[in-house]
Order: sequence, then structure tokens, then C-alpha cells
Amino acid sequence: MKVAVAGTGYVGLVAGVCFAEKGHNVVCVDIDKNKIAKMKKGLSPIYEKDLEELMQKNYKEGRIDYTTNYKNAYKDADFIFIGVGTPERKDGSANLDYVYEVAKQISQTVQKDCIVVIKSTVPIGTNDDVEKYIRKNLVNKVKIDVVSNPEFLAQGTAVRDTLQASRIVIGTENKYAEKKMLKLYENFDSPKVLTNRRSAEMIKYASNDFLALKVSYMNDIANLCEVVGANIEDVSKGMSYDERIGDKFLKAGCGYGGSCFPKDTKALHFLAEQDGYELKTVKAAIEVNKIQKLILLNKARKQFKTFKDMNVAVLGLTFKPGTDDLREAPSLENIPILLDEGAKIKAYDPIGVENYKKIYPTEINYVSSPQEALKNADICFIFTEWDEIKKVKPEEYKKLMKKPIVYDGRNIYSLKEMKEIEYHSIGRK
Ligand code: UDX
Repeated sequence: MKVAVAGTGYVGLVAGVCFAEKGHNVVCVDIDKNKIAKMKKGLSPIYEKDLEELMQKNYKEGRIDYTTNYKNAYKDADFIFIGVGTPERKDGSANLDYVYEVAKQISQTVQKDCIVVIKSTVPIGTNDDVEKYIRKNLVNKVKIDVVSNPEFLAQGTAVRDTLQASRIVIGTENKYAEKKMLKLYENFDSPKVLTNRRSAEMIKYASNDFLALKVSYMNDIANLCEVVGANIEDVSKGMSYDERIGDKFLKAGCGYGGSCFPKDTKALHFLAEQDGYELKTVKAAIEVNKIQKLILLNKARKQFKTFKDMNVAVLGLTFKPGTDDLREAPSLENIPILLDEGAKIKAYDPIGVENYKKIYPTEINYVSSPQEALKNADICFIFTEWDEIKKVKPEEYKKLMKKPIVYDGRNIYSLKEMKEIEYHSIGRK
């Protein structure tokens, strides 16, 4: 089947490549000419495991192409996927400008009946509105159905999460569209959840917000552990044997980040508020996370009134390991404060540096190993649990730093192995 995909970020590009891999004929559309040129050469605009290999393979075998020419891509497509960004506005609501820009292009260019599928995370009711909008503005007399089909991919495992999806949620308003979607996904061996559009939209938010809530809950409990003298690692291990709780997403740390949890918690909270409902649990998750992101600095503040002229080693810049994405990374909350106070920062990250340089080109001394960052440092902050950072041995902090003082936001060491070092972590004493 002919599939056009609008947007070549995490959502759109991964979906396009995976549909090609499953045998469909795919064309990915983006407004960015340079990006398209790079992709035609087989280069992925995002760092994602297995993606580049699949892009090259499917391009060579003629199942995927990339273009800025949306007219050609949309005019005779069987499916048009919308996978553009829905960034957060200042008030917490989701910005749907890009979604409507694509909807406008679709209404002006489609020449045959087609299914428009919204994959981007959008507020409940958006699919209804986009369908109305496209039908109202259609230039050619064709039949358009809008379907909600949210994605559940995590960065670093995006390809696997799509090809072997935990579930495929299909929200439609009629049997015709449902049948078409099932045909499109017939080669995907994953449970299919068939529902209406509003429920599909809600499944996406409810899933992400639940996971964010789980992390915030563990962070809240971790902070209490410190107060009452318990150990969060043992607590989470003890909890994990209960199958109803499970053993995933129980790691306490210096807060969640990324392109989804922060945005989706705020968007659902905003949406509820607009409808006169207070979503208390999600609100709590957001509040806990805000505090948690600054927890290391606030702990260190008890010891150092200011970071002026201190040599600070920062290990880890990205929001989690396995990605170069900095969106909502805890490092981005802490580093501006350190810089403002006049700290001298040496930072190490295996992949995130190029992106960080776009924000702080000269203010930070970027180094190519954790050891270089630690040399002569007065204090060390660990924000991301990269393997390269986990490999640093406790004695190296002792050997390299002026005096080993480590604030670890990801609990990468056991208390025992760090007992000869001044070591502060999350939820353990
Ligand atoms: C997430 C969801 O997992 C995915 O299903 C959804 O489609 C998009 O959002 P992602 O943002 O890539 O994916 O990252 P994820 O691995 O879920 O981690 C999110 C944040 O939570 C990270 O900052 C991570 O460090 C933090 N986290 C996760 C914890 O602090 N503790 C945990 O136990 C798990």
C-alpha cells in the first residue's frame, strides 16, 4: 500500500521506515531540504539504534523515498500519516500548528480516497476536529477518514518498539477505516486495540502520564527514604516482586525528561483544567519532577553557599542514555545556575555534546572522557547513567579530583563501593 508520512522526527521517520520494512511503499515528507538530502544519502537525522541500517536497506530496495514535495506524496496515497511535533506552549497546552499545517496541505492536494492517520500525540478531540477541517477544506471530491493511531516508542529502542509493538491502538469512527487499518498492519504481530478516536487519544496520554507518575512516585518515596533512613534501592526491589507493581520504571533519580513525559503530563493536566476537572495525580507528578530536577544542586547547596570559581565536573548531559536528545534533560536545569554563579564546568557526554554546543558553545569546557572532566574538580554531578560513566571506578574520583565529592543523580554506584568518598545519591544514606 502507498503510505505518505508527514514529519521525519522520531515519530514520523521511525513509522515510515518500519512500514517500508514491512513491505509498504513509503514516502517521507519534510519541509527541511537539507534533512531530506541527508536522508536520501542514507543518513539518519536522529541518533537511533538500527534506524540508519533500515533506511539504507529499504531505500536501496526501492520501498522508501524522501521528499519536500508534499503534493506528489499526498495526491494518490492510500494512507497519510501525520507524525509532526506537538510541542508544549508556555501555558502547558499542546501546540497543534504543525498538525493543522499538514491537514491544510492534505485538503488541498489529495486526489483519491484516503485515510489520514494521526500518530502525533494530540489532545483528546483533535482527530474529530482535524477530520472536520480536512473535509470542509477539500479541494477535490474524495472521501477522507481520520484515524487515531498513537505510537508508544521509547528513544533508543524506537525501531524495536515499532516493529514489535507492545500494542497497536487504532481509533476509528467507522468499520471501513478500521478494516483498512487492520490491512495496513496485517504483517505486524502485535495485539490490536480497536476503539474510538477519543479513547485512542486518551490511551496515549494515560500511558505516558502513568509512567511519569510511577517515576515521580518513586522519587517522592526516595526523598522520604532519606528522611527516615530507608534505602530506595532495597525498597524498589522489594516492591518489584509484586506482579501488580512490576519491576520496571521503579528507578529513583534526578527527575524524568525527554520529549514525552514532561510535555504529555502538562498537556493532559491543561486539557482537564480547561474542561473544569482537576487531575490531581498528574499535577502531583509534575510538581515532584520539578523539585527532583534540582535535587542534586539543592543537596550540594547545603555544603556550598555558592559555586563561584569552583571546578565542576558534569558527567552526562542527555535526558537518558542511548540518545543525543537534550529535551527537558536535568542537566539543562542545573548547568545554567552553576554558570550564573561563576562555576567553571568541564562536561562529558558520549553523544550529547554536539547538541549542547548549540546552547552553550563556549561557556562549558567539553571533554572527551569522564576522567578528563574529573581532573582537579572540586565537585562532580552525575546527571545521566551512560555505561561510559558507570565504568569510572570509585578510586578514579579519589585520584583525579581535588577532594572527591560526588553528587550522583542516577544511583550508579552502591554505597559500599563509594564508602571512602563523599558520595551523595538519591534515596540512600
Ligand atoms: C517515553 C515512553 O517510555 C514511551 O513509551 C513514549 O512513547 C515516549 O515517552 P522516552 O521519553 O524515550 O519514552 O524515555 P523513557 O525511557 O520512558 O524515560 C523517560 C524518562 O524517565 C527519562 O528521563 C528517564 O531517565 C526517566 N526514568 C525512567 C526514571 O527516572 N526512572 C525509571 O525507572 C525510568
